[in-house]
Amino acid sequence: MNRSRGQQRTQFVCQECGHESARWMGFCPSPACGSPLPLQELDVRPPPAGSRTWLPSAAEPPTELSTLEPEDRQRLLLPSAELNRVLGGGIVAGSVALLAGEPGVGKSTLLLQLARYLSEGGRPVTYLSGEESPHQIKLRSERLGFSGDRVFLETETDVDQALARLEESRPAFAIVDSIQTLYTQDAPSGPGSVAQVRECGLKLMRWAKLRNVPVFLAGHMTKDGSLAGPRVLEHMVDLVMYLEGQEVSSYRVLRSGKNRFGSTTEIGVFEMTGQGLVEVPDPSRALLAQRYERGVGAALAPTLEGSRPLILEIQALTSPAFAPVPRRVANGVDYNRLLMLAAVASRRSGLELGGQDIIVNVAGGFRVTEPAADLAIILALASSLYNRPLDPHLVAIGEVGLSGELRTVPQVERRVSEAARLGLHRCILPETARDRLGKLPDIEPIFARTVRQAVRAALGSPNRPDPEINGNDGDFEPDDLVFE
Ligand code: TYD
Ligand code: MG
Repeated sequence: MNRSRGQQRTQFVCQECGHESARWMGFCPSPACGSPLPLQELDVRPPPAGSRTWLPSAAEPPTELSTLEPEDRQRLLLPSAELNRVLGGGIVAGSVALLAGEPGVGKSTLLLQLARYLSEGGRPVTYLSGEESPHQIKLRSERLGFSGDRVFLETETDVDQALARLEESRPAFAIVDSIQTLYTQDAPSGPGSVAQVRECGLKLMRWAKLRNVPVFLAGHMTKDGSLAGPRVLEHMVDLVMYLEGQEVSSYRVLRSGKNRFGSTTEIGVFEMTGQGLVEVPDPSRALLAQRYERGVGAALAPTLEGSRPLILEIQALTSPAFAPVPRRVANGVDYNRLLMLAAVASRRSGLELGGQDIIVNVAGGFRVTEPAADLAIILALASSLYNRPLDPHLVAIGEVGLSGELRTVPQVERRVSEAARLGLHRCILPETARDRLGKLPDIEPIFARTVRQAVRAALGSPNRPDPEINGNDGDFEPDDLVFE
């Protein structure tokens, strides 16, 4: 007979993906995870009678779906269009959100700004900080120019005590900064461990749902992008938001990774300034304003982030490799996608990239998340290789397939309109998009069937290479220069 779960005392949990197994297996057996961290033992005995799990279990009978009235969930609208967009239209009552990001990216700043919006709207907010002293938080609020009325600071890190305090004060909104600093005596091991984060998260969830109070948690992410502590937290909460940004850039992108009450494709764009995070309502214009128009190796890609078009500048630098294996560096572009595009460009459009180191970067610290920018990446590479700038008014749209063909992408017209709005007036498009397009706004379309045609349309023939290219004297020229 199988051992019932009630008798089971321990489980073994992966520290990264949260995979659970009943037996000790050393490392995570899940092929999708491959974490190098050993499994952690977790006590799964039900808490002994009289333990400090103080919330009553909801002993309600099951509800029949058809008897439920559709309910318009209460949402708190914030005076920030960027935040409302990512949240899916405001903060839902009783929802629990996780704000994840690398240390220093601005999580505490964003949470304090949230506290500000709500408290200034007359709602009391509890800010539970296990990381900073009240004076440090005061310093931050002064930078934001915010007095802090109706924001109550707590430095309690015992989650049961903290919940008891919340139960007394009953704020309209609660912030926990960060979930990794909380602990409960009901779970073994130290704060930040799988067992602790999971148990504390569960307790906070239960309270939020019971009292219908939204709770926002800050969670640290490691440099490689995984959440320090268990992934289980991501599965539990209603909303996961990632605050991203590169150290070299002041832009911050708030991206939703999971949203039980809205779309996950929306992003919010902010800039970190001396007065905290400031919204960037027109990021395409802000990015284009900083562009060097005669730059070699730069191409514009109209991308779509949820409902919002965003023109990104893709920059590429190629230089002859000295090591036997050339280096490829991808900032803001998926590394494997870059490898694939470089291979397609070499094999299918005659760009000799095999002996070149390649660095690709998205200006402003942004990240490309869709294949629609493939063609722009290849054009940036070609521009660098030929040492010839692209037309500064040209944008490129298209997914690139392994045969070097250009494929159409969703919502081409929205992308083209955004380019036209910003005064750009030429656009390379996949031939396959031609029939689907209505009347294009003031923009000259150039249709191409293949990457090769697109490169030739954008940069002319590589038969006339600039003799100074990387000291190459044009020896990158492909021998099979047959254009379709
Ligand atoms: P912080 O919110 O503390 O990051 P996290 O909680 O994610 O670790 O802020 C990090 C950085 O932001 C810090 O280096 C200082 C900077 N900052 C500003 O530039 N302007 C400001 O107004 C504030 C509050 C912070
Ligand atoms: Mg912080």
